Formats: sequence, C-alpha cells, structure tokens
Amino acid sequence: MKDLHKEPRRPSSSPPTESPAHAREGEFKPLQLGPLSIWPPVELAPMAGVSNLPFRRLCAEFGAGLFLSEMITARGYRLENEMSRLLAASAADEWPRSVQIYGADPLDLGEMVKQLVADGVDHIDMNFGCPVPKVTRHGGGSAIPVKPRLLARLLRAAVSSAGRVPVTIKVRKGIDDSLITYPDAGRVAQEEGAAGICLHGRTAAELYSGAADWDAIGDLKSQVSIPVLGNGDIWEAHDALRMMRSTGCDGVVVGRACLGRPWLFGELAAIFDGRDPAPPPRLAEVIRIMDRHARALVDFFGPERGVYQMRKWCSWYTKGFPGSAAARGKLSRMGSLDEMHAVLAELDPELAFPPGALRVNRAKRGGTQRVRLPEGYLLCRHDDTPPKSPHTPEELAAWERALGGG
Ligand SMILES: Cc1cc2nc3c(=O)[nH]c(=O)nc-3n(C[C@H](O)[C@H](O)[C@H](O)COP(=O)(O)O)c2cc1C
Repeated sequence: MKDLHKEPRRPSSSPPTESPAHAREGEFKPLQLGPLSIWPPVELAPMAGVSNLPFRRLCAEFGAGLFLSEMITARGYRLENEMSRLLAASAADEWPRSVQIYGADPLDLGEMVKQLVADGVDHIDMNFGCPVPKVTRHGGGSAIPVKPRLLARLLRAAVSSAGRVPVTIKVRKGIDDSLITYPDAGRVAQEEGAAGICLHGRTAAELYSGAADWDAIGDLKSQVSIPVLGNGDIWEAHDALRMMRSTGCDGVVVGRACLGRPWLFGELAAIFDGRDPAPPPRLAEVIRIMDRHARALVDFFGPERGVYQMRKWCSWYTKGFPGSAAARGKLSRMGSLDEMHAVLAELDPELAFPPGALRVNRAKRGGTQRVRLPEGYLLCRHDDTPPKSPHTPEELAAWERALGGG
C-alpha cells in the first residue's frame, strides 16, 4: 500500500526535494464550496477555545483562505446562551463568515442554521468527528456517522434550512480500525447536498496520536465528486502541497500547527501563489503579534477572560525559544497584559524562531482511547433516531465543557 505520509519527520522547514517547493502556475484551483471560491485552498480548522474572532482575524491578516469558528452547539445557540452567541459573532469585515455547528437534533440544527443564515453567515460546517467520551457515549459526535441514515437526517435538516449557503461536514475516519465510517459519510454528504467534506485522517480511538492517514483522504477523494478537504498533520506550508499532491484533495485544513504561529497562513498563501515564504519571525516580532492578539482577546472577551485565555497562547507562542521555560511558567499564571509584557521583556528579542518548534504538538497530546458508544448501538445501524441532547441549562453547560475536538 502507498505510504503517503509516514516519512521521517524533518526537523526544519526545508521542503522535500522530490517536488517543487511551491505551487506551479495553475497547479491548484481555488477551493469551490457552493458559490464560495476560496484562495488559497486553505482552511483554519475549527478548534474549541482557539478559533474565535480575535484569532481568526489575526490569521486572516497573514493570508486569505477560510477561517472557521470553533464549534458552537445548536442547543446552546437556540437557548440564546450568551457564550454561544458571542462565539458565533463575527466582524463586519470578516469574509467569508464561516461557523462550525454541533448538534444531534434535527430541529435544533435546522433552527440554528436558519438564524445563522438570516444573520449573514457565508458557510456552515457540521462537526461529526468529536471523539469525546461524554458525547459518543450518548451517540453524538463521531458516533453519528456510524448510522448513515441518522447522519443523512441531520445533514438534510441543515442543508434544507441553509438555502444557498454552503454546508460542509467534518468527520474522522471512523470509530476505530474495525469500524471505518468515512466512505459512508462521503456518500451521504454527496447525496444530501453537502458542498464538501473534510476528513481528519484519524479514528476517534486514535484521538490525536500517531500520524494522520493521508491514504484515507486520497481514498475519499476517489469516491466522491464533491470537494474533499484533507486534515491532519500539516505542520509546515510545504506539507499542504504534499498533501494536495499526494491525495488529490481540493483543500487543506490546518489545526495545531498554527497555535502560536498565525503567520503560517502567510507562508501558505505564498507557497500556493508560487512564491517562497518569508522566514519565520524573530522573538521581537512574535512578541508584537502576541501583543495584538492579547489586546484583541481582551476587547472581545473582556479583561479577565481575555487575559485568562491569553495564558495558553503565551505558552504556544514562546514554545521552543531558548531560555523561555521559566517565562512560560510565569505567563501561565499572569493576571494582566502588563505582567505579560514584563515577563516577555526578560527574553532576548533577537532570538531566531527555533526550527525545533515547527513540528511540535502544542495541544491535545498523544494517547488513544477505547471509544464508548451507547449500549447496543451497533445492533441497528439503519436507525435514524437522534441521540438524546442535553435539555436543562445545567446539562448543557456540562456538555459544552466536555465538547471540543474532531
Ligand atoms: C484545541 C483543539 C480544539 C479542537 N476543537 C475542534 C472543534 O471544535 N471542532 C472540530 O471539528 N474539530 C476540533 N478539533 C480538531 C481539529 O479541527 C483538527 O481536526 C485536528 O486538530 C487535526 O488537525 P491538525 O493535525 O492540523 O491539528 C480541535 C483540535 C484542537 C487541537
């Protein structure tokens, strides 16, 4: 079998020698999702606690593409949960406005999609890849594609409410190696009018461990005629070319690599436009970007929550810079942006970006799991009954805390 992906990790950003380091003229087309034409064919992955408006805007400043919101639950949105509404919010100049939704109830999904469309959203993505036990145990998240008729029902509810706004779905390969669901998901997506499908090349059992299976992405591409977005292990810009060339996929979705590296979208834009990307920034420039990011988080979430959120970003931005470990310890407890600046001022601004920090997993460390499904779930895979959704605000809050991932 072709081994598209499992090559030894390169320690630096040096591109592979066997193929051109940037796209040849006309080699790739814009990603077409319904009426939307996206260039470069690159998407910021939906990431809970990450892909909020401040970060999306920052990434977009470096290079165009599609910048998805983090997952927002349809039930929370319908109940007018304050945080759900805030996370679905956008800025007037954000285009395309792209929101990822999660839900397992057709009524919730249809209603949320109607409201988002009325509010001017340009693209909706549906998360059917969440591997979290609390969710799969009730038949939600990555358990949904196990039942193709249920997947079809939920997708139909969204597509029929979306009108001309394109709806895509995001899935994993399956539950585990013995229960692979992406071929069914691709067929359903195509039959139900999805504008595209994103495949994260891991099973729910694999969580984020091992190498993403790009063969599966190529296989899905060969089975459907709707656009396929490939996802998993794009750490450097040239990985995106490598994935597109080796799988034939129509676009790439970048997740963990851009945590603390938003300029990666500039590198991706350059490489797809046939140019050499700029070298990664020195620490002084990274600190300037951190400052912009921190201010935007504070503006958006308010001072307390904004600073709290920035703590994890500080750790991601400074990862790998020599002598930064002690600073990271202090930054993980910081109480204000002044404190952040004081700690960062102790570091040498001339430090070059460490090559060893390029292919580093900044979130969701390794490990696998045995996926929990509801009792007897596999006995009737033709069933299309939606799983139970949380009803009370307390149930919903507990549920939303557990969600995230795909
Ligand atoms: C912090 C974090 C939060 C995530 N939240 C979501 C989410 O809300 N929805 C989703 O579909 N996937 C989510 N994912 C999965 C990513 O979208 C992506 O599929 C995964 O990270 C693999 O891509 P990568 O190898 O480029 O990181 C999350 C991943 C991370 C690291």
